[in-house]
Amino acid sequence: MLPRHTAKSDSYSNGYPRAKEKNTYSISPHRFQPRASPPALRRRRQLLIRLGLLVGIGLFAFFVWPGASVVPLLSLGFLSSGEDFQLETVRYYDLSTVQGTARGWEREERILLCAPLRDAESHLRMFFAHLHNFTYPHHLIDLAFLVSDSKDRTLGLLSELLEDLQADEDPKMPYGEISIIEKDFGQKVNQDVESRHGFAAQASRRKLMAQARNWLLSAALRPYHSWVYWRDVDVETAPFTILEDLMRHNKDVIVPNVWRPLPDWLGGEQPYDLNSWQESETALALADTLDEDAVIVEGYAEYATWRPHLAYLRDPYGDPDMEMDIDGVGGVSILAKAKVFRSGVHFPAFSFEKHAETEGFGKMAKRMQFSVVGLPHYTIWHLYEPSVDDIRHMEEMEEERKAREKEEQDKADRMKKIKDQFADPNSQWEKDKTDIQNEALREKKEKEKAEAQNVVETQVPADSKPETKAEAKADSKVESKADAVKAQ
Ligand SMILES: *[C@@H]1O[C@H](CO)[C@@H](O)[C@H](O)[C@H]1NC(C)=O
Repeated sequence: MLPRHTAKSDSYSNGYPRAKEKNTYSISPHRFQPRASPPALRRRRQLLIRLGLLVGIGLFAFFVWPGASVVPLLSLGFLSSGEDFQLETVRYYDLSTVQGTARGWEREERILLCAPLRDAESHLRMFFAHLHNFTYPHHLIDLAFLVSDSKDRTLGLLSELLEDLQADEDPKMPYGEISIIEKDFGQKVNQDVESRHGFAAQASRRKLMAQARNWLLSAALRPYHSWVYWRDVDVETAPFTILEDLMRHNKDVIVPNVWRPLPDWLGGEQPYDLNSWQESETALALADTLDEDAVIVEGYAEYATWRPHLAYLRDPYGDPDMEMDIDGVGGVSILAKAKVFRSGVHFPAFSFEKHAETEGFGKMAKRMQFSVVGLPHYTIWHLYEPSVDDIRHMEEMEEERKAREKEEQDKADRMKKIKDQFADPNSQWEKDKTDIQNEALREKKEKEKAEAQNVVETQVPADSKPETKAEAKADSKVESKADAVKAQ
């Protein structure tokens, strides 16, 4: 079973839980030094005062009240001695050091990686392969998973994979703190591609997703996080350096372009995430006509917004560092400075400027003067999950392929049968064959002799046509023999 964290004071001053049992994940901050520590001098002074006090109280208690408990006195002594004391239960953070900079890995900036999961068992192994490959120092990344409304083994497999990851022998592999949060949001839409992407389901689905993201983030964000990275588990291909690549732009919110590969018969590739876009006049006019609670979802014919989509602006040979200001963002892979969330920007689970969830998040961040940027030519690839139509088509192709294979197999069988009949290893047949071969050889020799004669003789008559010679040569040997006879 999973270790469950309870809110107790058995943690380090930086907020890390202490490793309690052997069977919990190794999530102790063995490589993380809290940066927000008071100056060493002050600490030393405090330590001396505390030691002195302890000794004093101890002696006092021993001589005056032998046998009495010293514990209440002790805590009294600590509390009464003013703000100079660093209590075990008080944590000190200096948030000016966690603003997020372009080269966060050099300054040991911590990232909170958030991954919402729902019936994600089939994608988890792929996601962990990505976790293995991230080049951003793993010990600077804390992982937060939200498992909700799942009927498969998402939670079981997740804890297995996490245990393996954290127990990895390579000291560079284990991540920082890991949180798993379980909570259902009553997401009723089926998780299959058709239902998930159908237009009718979008608004309510997006609002529930928004709630899920907000719960996950508010439960897992700690004061020492400089960055928050949102990542879907069904990303198939992404650069291992994606965290550094996005961070280098030093934007408040930044997303890559998200495409998906397609089978060849569907054209090879396709824009996937249409939620990253720039606002358009048409869309603003449309928004004005809509009900207060309406939620526009991009990428559906129902709402013709004519917005420039990040996805459609991709040029495979374009500069991957090129930036584009956007208003709505897609949720597949978002890197944001933690201060954006701390300032109150979140994923609206209601209509905010006629948008919800990640698109609403982008708009809200923009509204609060944060920079929101997309990289049109820096592409990551979402897993291709075939639609019902695609599956039907693929089944048809598969049947055709099988029929073709069967036909070819039948043909091969027939050929083999014929060959087998002729290659009968019967000795009489072998003997006959040798005889026939000898006979054929003799005939051939005679024929050659005849032909030689024929050539000599046909060269003589002036009226003999050259075609005849060519024809005779090309025709069967029996005929050329006959020719030879005629010529004589
Ligand atoms: C991780 O890296 C290995 C080795 O370079 C590679 O074979 C594998 O495909 C990568 N996995 C992912 C999910 O990118």
